[in-house]
Amino acid sequence: MVDKVGKYRQLLAQVAALIDGQADEVSVMANITAAIKETMGFFWVGFYVLKDDNLLHLGPFQGSVACYTIPYNKGVCGAAWARGETIIVPDVEQFEGHIACSSLSRSEIVVPVFDNEGIFRSVLDIDSDELGAFDETDKKYLEQLAQLMTTHLHG
Ligand code: SME
Repeated sequence: MVDKVGKYRQLLAQVAALIDGQADEVSVMANITAAIKETMGFFWVGFYVLKDDNLLHLGPFQGSVACYTIPYNKGVCGAAWARGETIIVPDVEQFEGHIACSSLSRSEIVVPVFDNEGIFRSVLDIDSDELGAFDETDKKYLEQLAQLMTTHLHG
């Protein structure tokens, strides 16, 4: 059986190949969510993208229907945007202001995505239906994945 690190290594290689030469951001985000969901089996995988109205808007995702917009510093996604860093939530019920899109979601990790000028563009949000599903290994590899995306984001 391939362990989590092995799966992430495969995923990173797959994503690097998948997005190579692709310029359309939505297409790239869509295929990244599909690759993560297929390889890692998480309950919900998706992007929330910052738009001109200063809200995060639901982007490409895999999983059940989700809320459309998230304001700055609201929910785990808005907090990751405000802090500019990855947030791991082992138990969503313990995170004040958590936005529940599905009652099945028990733990969550949100990774901010920056463009090649270091400007915040979106978050990669992943939910699990198990408590404590995410740790420093997930953070390390998902941040590398966000870094890979940077070449596909244009100011
Ligand atoms: N739980 C997130 C909202 C998005 S859903 O998980 C898909 C949050 O608190 O920001």
